[in-house]
Amino acid sequence: MADSFHVRGGTALSGSIKIGGAKNAALKLMVASLLAPGKHHIGNVPNIVDVDTMARVLEHVGATCDRDGSMLTIDVPDDPLPEAPLDLVRQMRASILVLGALLARAGEARVALPGGDDFGSRPIDFHIKGLESMGATFELHHGVLHGSAPDGLTGTDVFLEFPSVGATENLLLAAVLADGVTTIGNAAREPELVDLAQYLTTMGAKIDGAGTSTIEIHGVGALEPASHSTVPDRLEAGTYLAAGAMTRGHVTVTDCKPEHLRMELRKLASIGCEVETTESTITLVGPDRPAAVDVATLPYPGFHTDMHPQMVTMLSVADGTSILTENIYAGRFRYLGELNRMGADVHADGQHVVIRGVDRLSGCEVDACDIRAGAALVIAAMRADGDTLIRDAQHIDRGYDRWVENLQSLGADIERV
Ligand code: UD1
Repeated sequence: MADSFHVRGGTALSGSIKIGGAKNAALKLMVASLLAPGKHHIGNVPNIVDVDTMARVLEHVGATCDRDGSMLTIDVPDDPLPEAPLDLVRQMRASILVLGALLARAGEARVALPGGDDFGSRPIDFHIKGLESMGATFELHHGVLHGSAPDGLTGTDVFLEFPSVGATENLLLAAVLADGVTTIGNAAREPELVDLAQYLTTMGAKIDGAGTSTIEIHGVGALEPASHSTVPDRLEAGTYLAAGAMTRGHVTVTDCKPEHLRMELRKLASIGCEVETTESTITLVGPDRPAAVDVATLPYPGFHTDMHPQMVTMLSVADGTSILTENIYAGRFRYLGELNRMGADVHADGQHVVIRGVDRLSGCEVDACDIRAGAALVIAAMRADGDTLIRDAQHIDRGYDRWVENLQSLGADIERV
């Protein structure tokens, strides 16, 4: 039977949490290692289920993965098996990134169509179109995408319809070993993508403009294995800060990069949190009751869609009505019903969430629908009256290392059951 989290609400969180490496960077760094045979060392890797799943993808391809604390050593073979199996890809959408890496390295790739969080339809057409313009061809057989580029990939100009993180990363992974120059226009600018570009550069890739909307990649003949430390997880930091804000707490997150959370910190300040930053720490004191504000999710450096459920949860007890506009995922609203079972008054209207602030939430049984919605429900439970059981803990385990231990260390009354 799946685990649940049992939370008794009412404690103001207090203390300090050390932030680990970003899930959304570590997974991509692991895929990037496939581009060069030999031993890679990736540090600051979180101990979460998605990293284990990616390690199994790499092992299927023929690599070995050894973890020592937060250090992951990956030994990549000379001839990787160009295939990612269905049972693993179904569990985690990020496995689609092996497409670019394996096409570049092996001239072919067979990847089952991805799963991951249920946010409604999550197509990969930008990935495919971009790789096709570099010379790859694709066929779909029984749910498995067969990509082929027997003569290698060729650099070209790609202009993305939307600054998709995954598509930008897939094209970057493909382009570093392509023949000639690739330019990715309307590229994503997320810090995790910049981290990937830094790792590839250490491996010998030639990349200009990562972190801006235009990335230029000069293909090289071969790459070398390298060592790299994963960028801190801005979403883990943001989630603990939201927990502090929600419980009228006093929480510090350390070993993070506040500049990666500029918009999120601005919104926390505007709901009434006191926020102070140093180069690598953020301290927050939560308000008695949040103020209502409007928020729109946008690609980086806008407000992160993966902080949407935590924000709606904070605003659910605000003094007034707020509107959150979700611009990235049309289907990210399944958790609203769960929040309403706890006494919130939130509803979706098209891509908007209308949040009428209520005085109090009350504990009950709810289902975690995905990583961030699950975390948001735990945060709601910590302010709610009485006991809450958050079922389907496995969703939260995909993204948060030491979740229960960390929250307990801040004084939360939470246990895994
Ligand atoms: C990554 C993150 C995810 C985050 C998201 C947006 C990882 C493992 N996941 O997901 O946590 O929420 O960035 O910051 O890093 N789209 C298309 N066609 C495509 C590709 C994307 O229509 O080929 C659409 C998507 O459906 C979505 C939007 O573009 O509406 C953004 O998606 P994208 O930036 O690609 O997100 P992911 O890389 O999947």
